[in-house]
Amino acid sequence: MLFEHELAWKDPAVYNEVYKNSIEHPEEFWNYHRHRLFPSECFNAAYNCVDRHAQANPDKTAIIWYGDEYCEYRRISYRQLQIMTQKIASELVRHNVKKGDSITIYAAICPESIAAMLACCRIGAMHNVIFSGFSAATLRERCEESKIVLTMSHASRNGRSMSPLKTVLEAVGSSKSVILLDHVDDFPIEDSCLSYENVNYYDNMFTLYTSGSTKAPKKICHCCGGYLLYTAMTFKNIFDVRENDVHFCTSDIGWITGHSYIVYAPLFFGLTTVIFQGVPTYPTVGRYWEIIEREKVTIFYSAPTAIRCLATVGGSQLDQYDFSSLRMLGSVGEPMDEAAWNWFFTHIGQGRCPIADTWWQTETGGIILAPLCNLEQKPGFASKPFFGIVPKIVNDELVIQEKNWPGLSVNFSREDGQCYHTGDKAMQDADGDIKILGRIDDVINVSGHRIGTSELESIINSLGEIEECAVVGVPHRIKGQTIFVFATTTTELNQSQKESVFQEMIARTREEIGAIAKPEKAAFVPALPKTRSGKIKRNILKTIGAREDINYDSADFSSIVNPECIQEIEKITRLSTIKV
Ligand code: WT7
Repeated sequence: MLFEHELAWKDPAVYNEVYKNSIEHPEEFWNYHRHRLFPSECFNAAYNCVDRHAQANPDKTAIIWYGDEYCEYRRISYRQLQIMTQKIASELVRHNVKKGDSITIYAAICPESIAAMLACCRIGAMHNVIFSGFSAATLRERCEESKIVLTMSHASRNGRSMSPLKTVLEAVGSSKSVILLDHVDDFPIEDSCLSYENVNYYDNMFTLYTSGSTKAPKKICHCCGGYLLYTAMTFKNIFDVRENDVHFCTSDIGWITGHSYIVYAPLFFGLTTVIFQGVPTYPTVGRYWEIIEREKVTIFYSAPTAIRCLATVGGSQLDQYDFSSLRMLGSVGEPMDEAAWNWFFTHIGQGRCPIADTWWQTETGGIILAPLCNLEQKPGFASKPFFGIVPKIVNDELVIQEKNWPGLSVNFSREDGQCYHTGDKAMQDADGDIKILGRIDDVINVSGHRIGTSELESIINSLGEIEECAVVGVPHRIKGQTIFVFATTTTELNQSQKESVFQEMIARTREEIGAIAKPEKAAFVPALPKTRSGKIKRNILKTIGAREDINYDSADFSSIVNPECIQEIEKITRLSTIKV
């Protein structure tokens, strides 16, 4: 039985056979890989992602860190990472942390944060990483179950200096112990931390909150063996990983993408992982491209929100960078519209690097859909299921037939024989390739026709004047709902230009989808409200578009990174909505 192949992702015939075997014999399939990847049945991530490489390859660079300013740069070898991890673990032990305890980490993207995650793993404690941009109130709520908070006294992002420590003190006062990661070097190593705690396959590894694009953020928990096995397997096969890869994933470590594909999967294979604490546009719009050139990055994994932004602000200066080291590109977080896909493929991938549009969720642990064997790329498609995954489309919703893949969060019972409901709208084409059309909760219903947000947004985003857009359904007396577009533009437009762009939106959507999908209203706004991980908050735009009042006193904007734009959008919508 064929369970693996070096380049399964490149050859459809091999993919099909391995996939078929994985579905027909899931237990054998996963056991086979479990024993291959964990020959000694040791599921401690500190051993798998640090210790074994520190022994075999101590001087290899594990982490390359770029700070907010040009001068901030560090390289950490596997041996150094091991020492940092042992030191932080020792400090936790001195604070009486035991196996199974929850530890909150609230710090920027830096080597210490990664070492802190691995230090928790080393002693069998569960880390709970909170994105360092969250407020004291959000942090307080989310660290309730933790014994200790690990943080840093200083961090800077986008030219602004912040103190995560200050926020921690505001959140927890003196009710919890706080450990500062600024001076890890000074922590003495306890003998007990030279080695690592034994953990079982099903022991809890960490907790993490979902980003909350349509619902309230939910706390998700992953287990040691299943999570590591699944993230390692997906990484290897989807990105065609090789020993000397330099991997650059632009997510924050406070999201599951950062956990799985900045930290655990790349370090599992002993690669070099590049981390960047700043934002792509500070001090210049070329930050990502400079990093790719200097570090000879081979895999670049980013998100549509970043790609759309960079295509707008930095499109003209790309010639000066050398992208020849790149071999693979990836995207995650939202549907990638065709305009963004084409820009990414042409300008960054030089028409040469395949793009893995990867669909997955915090709950799934690792990638579920990706173009695993497409020799021919299909823009806008997340394409194929990973091994062991059986997707189905039921009433337009993407569901996964069995809850039996190793990466699935422990929040779900595996035995009840029910499907896993993803909450996303999707369609499948004649080749069996899957396209994600947005969240089910965001689907617009015009006269009984169900329209996914991404189908429309993709068309509107391809207009030259549009930087980014979000479409929502607003109530309509006869049709039930009608389509309202909120858009940001690449340059400032006057009223008549706005009118003509709106006419163009109508013409294009009519042509490509049909008259039912034509927008009826549009507002050109300075920014779209987004979650901290870059997802557009369509539900707020829906409230504004429906002219319902937002109660600013009671509204919860904690998951929104730019709440200040909301009032502005409300005003523009009230005063200058363009209608047909
Ligand atoms: C939701 C999960 C998984 C890490 C990032 C977000 C959306 C994610 C894609 C994609 C279309 C995507 C879905 C999903 N999403 N990747 N490639 N194409 N949509 O994790 O915060 O748990 O969000 O992100 O709507 O349900 P998350």
